[in-house]
Amino acid sequence: MIRNVWLIALTAALAITTGCSKEEAPPAASPTPAPTVEQAVEKPAPKAAMEHVMDKAHQGMDEKTHEAMQTAHEGIKDAHETAIATMVTGQKIYEKTCAACHNTGVAGAPKTGDKAAWSAYSAEDIDGLLQVAITGAGAMPPRGGNPDLSDEDVRAAVIYILDQSR
Ligand code: HEC
Repeated sequence: MIRNVWLIALTAALAITTGCSKEEAPPAASPTPAPTVEQAVEKPAPKAAMEHVMDKAHQGMDEKTHEAMQTAHEGIKDAHETAIATMVTGQKIYEKTCAACHNTGVAGAPKTGDKAAWSAYSAEDIDGLLQVAITGAGAMPPRGGNPDLSDEDVRAAVIYILDQSR
């Protein structure tokens, strides 16, 4: 999921940079490997580069295009922040509540990172998985055994598992 957002941001940066002269191309527009969750949170460096690119792109635009671009930009930023927040929350919850079983595969828990085990599921359609995670199934306890977790918490953890299993 995070990777997708980074791809969108990078693609946007690359598309816009094409309009700039070579000297003005910012360093962040070069292909960078997708960052880990920690890096994405701790190193928001590409943000400055993106803003530079956007400033360049906005110069010489008519007002309507400018506004449309800005709205699109805000949308990307919001989606990006939401995705990062979900991943950070999901990782924390996962490590605290789910890792004990899903890191090791104890009691037949499908292991996180096992692409084959999770490949049938998509991050866009997690209702079935969420149901299992919330109500439990077999050796899988409801909410991973932590009744304090909200549906959203469990959802974030499931999204994290799927992201780590791609
Ligand atoms: C006590 C061990 C244990 C803990 C803790 C645990 N799980 Fe599980 N989980 C399992 C087992 C075992 C299964 C397989 C259940 C079955 O279908 O028999 C499973 C299955 C699942 C599935 C369904 C996978 C599928 O292929 O249908 C999801 C989703 C899931 N767990 C999410 C979580 C999340 C999220 C957490 C933490 C909030 C968590 N689990 C914590 C043991 C655990």
